Amino acid sequence: MAPSFTLVDHPLIQHKLTILRRSDTATAQFRQVLREIAFVLGCEVTKDLTLGEVEIETPLERGMFPYLSGKKLCFVSILRAGNGLIDGLLDLVPSARVGHIGLYRDPDTLEAVQYYYKMPDAIDERQVIMVDPMLATANTSIAAASLLKKNGARNIKFMCLLAAPEGVEAFGAAHPDIPIIAAALDRELNDHSYILPGLGDAGDRMYGTKG
Ligand code: URA
Repeated sequence: MAPSFTLVDHPLIQHKLTILRRSDTATAQFRQVLREIAFVLGCEVTKDLTLGEVEIETPLERGMFPYLSGKKLCFVSILRAGNGLIDGLLDLVPSARVGHIGLYRDPDTLEAVQYYYKMPDAIDERQVIMVDPMLATANTSIAAASLLKKNGARNIKFMCLLAAPEGVEAFGAAHPDIPIIAAALDRELNDHSYILPGLGDAGDRMYGTKG
């Protein structure tokens, strides 16, 4: 299956992204704008949700109207930066479930090692939206998607903010069945696997930590 990569170049997203990229954007504003972008990106990610019909009464008459009828949603945050996108997505779909995956890189083997995994029930029946603001080397997101599949998830999309070409290629090679939805495709990775021009370390920017 060919990997699919969608860039959402809505003017509001591009404007907000510039605010996030600015090095002088303060932590509180960074978090708020990230939440707003997640909401708009979430509209694109959920645009193919299945609709059925329900019979209701308006104040004037009875009729059949569209109503969500398909798979239940589960947003999955790849810790810790993924958490910055969850609130905006929950603003959009308050009833969605949320799962968390924590992975760290073993310094000797360089393998991604799981330290946290918590999902709602029936993950195999849900539309899973895995989120991480930065698709850099893709090592973590590849491992997170593999974990989800191992635990039964069958319908997965990956929503990120900034993607590096190297990450898109690596993720697409590992998980060609998972569509990637991003707000921007940046130029490249630097020697420390940071995205250029990027926005720095997303976790540090949103939580005011360093290094
Ligand atoms: N993770 C980040 O937070 N920023 C990058 O540029 C790359 C990975």
